[in-house]
Amino acid sequence: MDFEERITASNLNQEDEVMELSLRPKKLSDYIGQRKVTENLQVFIEAAQIRKEPLDHVLFYGPPGLGKTTLAGIIANELGVDLRITSGPAIERAGDLAAILTNLNENDVLFIDEIHRLNRSVEEVLYSAMEDYALDIIIGKGPSARSIRLDLAKFTLIGATTRAGSLSAPLRDRFGVICKFELYQIDELKKIINRSAEILGIGIDDESTTEMARRSRGTPRVANRLLKRVRDFSQVKGNGTIDLDITNSTLQSLGIDKEGLEGLDREILRVIIDRFKGGPVGIDTIAAAIGEERITIEDVYEPYLIQAGFLHRTQKGRMVSEEAYKHLGINLSTDEQISF
Ligand SMILES: Nc1ncnc2c1ncn2[C@@H]1O[C@H](COP(=O)(O)OP(=O)(O)O)[C@@H](O)[C@H]1O
Ligand SMILES: [Mg+2]
Repeated sequence: MDFEERITASNLNQEDEVMELSLRPKKLSDYIGQRKVTENLQVFIEAAQIRKEPLDHVLFYGPPGLGKTTLAGIIANELGVDLRITSGPAIERAGDLAAILTNLNENDVLFIDEIHRLNRSVEEVLYSAMEDYALDIIIGKGPSARSIRLDLAKFTLIGATTRAGSLSAPLRDRFGVICKFELYQIDELKKIINRSAEILGIGIDDESTTEMARRSRGTPRVANRLLKRVRDFSQVKGNGTIDLDITNSTLQSLGIDKEGLEGLDREILRVIIDRFKGGPVGIDTIAAAIGEERITIEDVYEPYLIQAGFLHRTQKGRMVSEEAYKHLGINLSTDEQISF
């Protein structure tokens, strides 16, 4: 199955984009979970408002689908300023960035998604913009070339990335606030599912909400997507209200098991067990063995496998846990598969 079509793929597809617009909370009080992040931001937002200054530049990092874009929107909303959204790969030239920056108004928020993918020449323009709210532009060529400094409105940059480690040090150092996003707990996901069900006008019982939350791999985007799929099934095969039977059969037909793992999760664990005796084995070797990109495994699959206790990261590489053997029905001592 194509990565984009996988139900648990936590990156965005077109259908999500439409749905996410309606499901995205707009106020900090509607934003569920990530308390460590939001409690601090609340203070910084209020302080900025009292001083009538822009909020310090903020960096968000963590796996896809955890609410980084959503929170950037909320921050702009709470500050009562405009939000301009772009992404690292979309800004090809320094001139593109200059055009965006010169169009910002005082205290506006500029959101750059996938900021680790900015190219070097663009990144360098960003340094002085972030630090001094200024652009240095070279006019002319050769000996007559001169540099002029263009003042910008004071703005806030919010950068988002799945990997803080691939940000260059000079860029990372220019963020005053750095926030790490964690996978969500079951009770938080339940609240998100209930909120979305209410907005979409879907009837759902508590057992079903719990089951969906348990199988959303800690990710709100996945939770919302599951809700939508289960709704489809309940409308076609049931009476339109979501119950546990419909939920379970939908999840089963989507290939999502009791622990929320999908095909590729199980394949990762199985490869480590079958070919590398359970590990430790390097991430590049795993990536090559299953034919996926290393980055995809690290950013999308591994965080949940680790949180769920199926995989450990050690100095020597990745190791599967005893629970992984149990979950896959593989006998730990003989490495022989037992049938269900
Ligand atoms: N804390 C949250 N509370 C409620 N819904 C959330 C929360 N975080 C994410 N969501 C939902 O999940 C979807 C994906 O979030 P998004 O901000 O696009 O993630 P990211 O930018 O980190 O990939 C949003 O449309 C929103 O509906
Ligand atoms: Mg996003």
